[in-house]
Order: sequence, then C-alpha cells, then structure tokens
Amino acid sequence: MIVEPLENLARTHTCGELTAADIGKDVVLLGWVHRVRDLGALVFVDLRDRHGLTQVVARDNDTLVANAKQLRSEFVIAVCGRVEARGADAVNPKMKTGEVEVTANAIRLLNEAKVPPFGIADDPPISEDMRLKYRYLDLRRPRMQHNLALRHRATMEIRKYFDEQGFLEIETPMLTKSTPEGARDYLVPSRVHPGEFYALPQSPQIFKQILMISGMDRYFQIVKCFRDEDLRADRQPEFTQVDVEISFATEDLVFSVLEPLMDRLMAIVGTQAPRPFLRLPYAEAIAKYGTDKPDLRCGMEIRNLSDAFAESNFSVFRTAIATGGDVRGFVVPGAAKYSRRELDELVEQAKQLGAAGLVWARASDAGVQSPALKAAGEGAIRTALERAGAAPSDLLVMAAGAPEATSRMLGQLRLNVAKKENLLDPDAFAFLWVVDFPMFEWLEEEGRYEFMHHPFTAPLESDRHLLETDQGRARARAYDLVLNGSEIGGGSIRIHDQSLQQLVFKLLGISDEEARLRFGFFVDALVYGTPPHGGIALGLDRIAAILCGEASIRDVIAFPKTTQAVDLMAGAPSAVSEKQLRELRIKPV
Ligand code: AMO
Repeated sequence: MIVEPLENLARTHTCGELTAADIGKDVVLLGWVHRVRDLGALVFVDLRDRHGLTQVVARDNDTLVANAKQLRSEFVIAVCGRVEARGADAVNPKMKTGEVEVTANAIRLLNEAKVPPFGIADDPPISEDMRLKYRYLDLRRPRMQHNLALRHRATMEIRKYFDEQGFLEIETPMLTKSTPEGARDYLVPSRVHPGEFYALPQSPQIFKQILMISGMDRYFQIVKCFRDEDLRADRQPEFTQVDVEISFATEDLVFSVLEPLMDRLMAIVGTQAPRPFLRLPYAEAIAKYGTDKPDLRCGMEIRNLSDAFAESNFSVFRTAIATGGDVRGFVVPGAAKYSRRELDELVEQAKQLGAAGLVWARASDAGVQSPALKAAGEGAIRTALERAGAAPSDLLVMAAGAPEATSRMLGQLRLNVAKKENLLDPDAFAFLWVVDFPMFEWLEEEGRYEFMHHPFTAPLESDRHLLETDQGRARARAYDLVLNGSEIGGGSIRIHDQSLQQLVFKLLGISDEEARLRFGFFVDALVYGTPPHGGIALGLDRIAAILCGEASIRDVIAFPKTTQAVDLMAGAPSAVSEKQLRELRIKPV
C-alpha cells in the first residue's frame, strides 16, 4: 500500500459520533489505526481519533481486503464507506459507536508509522520516563486525551464565569522582577544589559495588586508561574494559576465569588460543591487533623484525651501531660477487629512517623483491651474511649507528646489508615476554607521570622497590636482553599496602607534599602490611593488532576517535567552554545 496525499478529502464525522441514526449514510473518517483484526476474508480496523473509536470493516473486495491487511497500528488513514448496523452479537453497548460499523469502499493510507515503543491501544504498564520521553504518543492514549479535554472544559468554564462576574483578563509580564512566594527564581539573563537578569514570575502578585491601584477593580488571569523548588507529585517548576484580585474585597466577598465557581467546575464531572464551604481556623485544622490541608472525607477527628489520663499511673502519658504535652487520639471506625499483626503495623507506622509510641484501645464484648490497660487502669482507658466516641466495633489510637507534633503525627497516621480502609471516596468532594493562618513562621535554623503566605498579606484587625509585641502570635487575613486534602488555592486580604507594609517588611527583616531594591515600584504605587483589596490564586493543575481522578498533576499537563525538573521529550534544560553565552557575557563554569 502506498502513501497517498489527502487531496480534498474532507472528514464528514469524527470517530466518536456515528450511531444507529446514521445507518445508510456515506461517510469519510480520518484517524489512526488503533487495532487490526484479520479474519481472513474480512479485516476489522478500529479507527481512532480524539473523539473515540469506530469499527471499520473491509470485505467483498479483494484489493481492499489485501490493503487492509497491510495496515499497522498508528498508521494514519482515510476511510470512505457506508454506515451499517452491526450484527446483534457484535453490538458493544459500552461504546457510543458500538451499534454500527463502517463498511469501507476505499481506504487511503495517509502516512505510515514506526512501531511505537509502547502500545497505544492496550494501556500497558509503562514507566513514566518512557511516557514523558514519547509524550506525543502518550498523549494519543484515550486517558490523556480525556484529561486534556476535561482541563480545557474547566478552563473555558473559568473564563466564562469570570467574564460574567465582571472580571477583566489582563496579562502581566513574564520577564520581570523577583516576586516573593517563598521559592527560588528562574532567572533570565539580559543580553542588552549584561550582568543583569529578569526573573520569571513566581506569581503575578505585585502586578495584580498594582492593577487594583490602577482601578481595574476585578482582575483574573490564567497564567503560568515559575518556581525553582523541590518537586513532588503536586508540584511542577512551571504550573498554571487562576489568579484573581478584587478591589474592596473582604473574605466573604472573595469566598462568595469562588464558591459558585467551584460548583460550576464540579458540574463538569456531574457533581456539586455544596455551599457555603466550611471555614476552619488554621489552629483548629492542625489540632483536629494534624495538617493545614485536611481531607474531610474520612472523619476520624483527632481529640485531646489528656483529661482521661491526668490522674492515671501510666507514666508515659502522665509525664507528657506534666511537661506541657497532650495525649491525643482518633477513632478508626470498625477497626476493633484488627489482628495483632495489623495493630503492630499501626504502631510501627507511628514510630516511622516520629512518634515515641502508639497506644491502642478497644472495648468489645471481650472487655476492654489495650497494651496500656494495666499501667493506665481500666477506668482511664474507658474514659478515653468514651471521650473519643469509640463504639464497640471501633479502635482508638493514642499518642502523647508536644501538642502540635502529636497532632501532626496522628494526622499522617489518619491518612494512612483512611487509605488502607478505603475511606477516601474518590467520588466525594470535600471543600473547606482554612482561615486565620499565622502571619509569620519562625525559622529555627535561620533564627528569624518568615512570612507564611507572602509579605503583602494583612494581619487580622484584632491581632494588629500583636505585630509589635508578639509577632509570632499574630494571625493573618490569609486563607487556603482545600479540596480532598489538597491545597487548591491560597490568597489573602492585602495590606493597602504603606506604613503597615513598611512595618511588615521590617518584621520580616527586610531593610528599607532592600525593600526599595526589590519592591520599590510597588511601595511607591501604594501611596497613590490604593483601595482595600484582596484575592486568591487557584492551582489549575491540581484542580484538573482532582477532576480527572489523577494522583499526579503530570497527568493533566500536556508537557510536564519530571521530579528532577527535566523535560525528557525536548531535552531541557540543555547546554547552550558558547556564542550565546558570550553574547550574554556569561562565563561557563
Ligand atoms: P500560592 O503560593 O499559595 O499563592 O499559590 C496558589 C496555588 O497555586 C498552586 N501551586 C502550585 N501548583 C503546582 N506546582 C507548584 N509548584 C505550585 N505552587 C503553588 C497551589 C496553590 O494553592 N500570589 C499568591 C496568591 C494570592 O495571594 O492571591 C500565590 O501564588 O494550588
């Protein structure tokens, strides 16, 4: 079979749309050979494009059948034929096109293909490196086509929504100055100004605030951000934000704009985001779930059980309480039946998470059981079980130590247990706002405070006096949007008063000179009538991953980088020519 030109052959239908209603029509389909089944006198070809698969059959024509036998997976072909009903036993109710087939009267080979390094049709287990190196083939797979199409739907919905709400989409520069979001910058050397660099934006934070000063009132942008940081499944060096800023904003206003948007996005996958979303103060999130991004799909709240043990003789717990610590624990529903091995595993996991130990307890028909039964006394264990709300079929797990560290350890254990017990329903979506974050975080190693969100975040009005007396306790008007344990957005009400901004720079150890050097243009702008304002940025990749049911954002990005920040397909980063370096006045090391 020879390769022929397309000429003026025009597609009449995609491979995903023919149904019984089309029977009898003459059609032209264009696409890739997904599978060939050679039955001798008949050849079935599954033809694939982004929209789906259609079964093509070559029969009753010797040349056509002979040609069809030469087709291989991933060849690009055009099929002219007639839509016919499949025999009753060949109907595939799982496929939209499953009732019909196209009986070919001509098959034109438009291009051949090398044997791909992995099958597109049979979804074999392939290493991620292979998938990323041959991304063009990986993206042909129905799963990736579905993911990118869903991401597109979400992006379109977002644009439509913000337009309806009176927002302007405004582009901000990519070649700019460093923006402080807590990561390292990607720098771009300037040829025209040797020795000087642009920074790629970690976010458009300063520009969107300046747009508020400019009176743009409501801004949004679907925008690439760049952060040179350690990567994980939910982090990429370049990623996409849905960036939003609103003048005269309060938390209520920001939330009232964002929550219906989430509902619209959920509707794409046929579900809802019941409103209003829960608002959970940061301190409560840490205490109850051991994390500032709790997954609320699985209950298992961590409780303070110190009271039950204050009087007991169990020295491990008593000492912890006496030294300012707590006994905390959570109930694993239905886990009273755990075997000795399962209990040992739990204890082992807790130790690996940094706990000195883990004490379990259960009260079934056989009576109260716990390795601490003797030491703590049955009364104390019974009280703890009761306080924790444990039913006879449940298991209580407890640990003692510094309050926050204990909650954080239990929070990790809670997630491990939730996964083991399948308590994280993949079809459930639990949104919440985590609010009242601390303004500052103490960096032990560096002996200084760092901002928790970014340096433009306003303090809570009620905590403003703490800034100069007890800055570590001051809380911020910052909020995160959390969905199923993933931080899908973060924002704040901003500082709009120059003297407060200067004070916050000072508290962060940023000298006037440094502030002038780094954000001088912004500090200058603040004095020209800045409206109160606030906003948020959503992580589009994370939202798309959750909508698609993918564990990694790499599966919803067309051309992602590896965890080593490498583009395996394009081969970036790469060395550049000496000439380029000379032009930039950069000396190779
Ligand atoms: P923040 O740094 O919280 O806020 O970022 C907002 C959201 O962007 C997503 N995100 C990422 N996604 C993938 N890879 C990354 N490396 C990555 N880093 C962040 C997260 C996060 O919640 N300027 C502020 C927003 C504001 O205050 O309005 C900002 O960038 O989902």
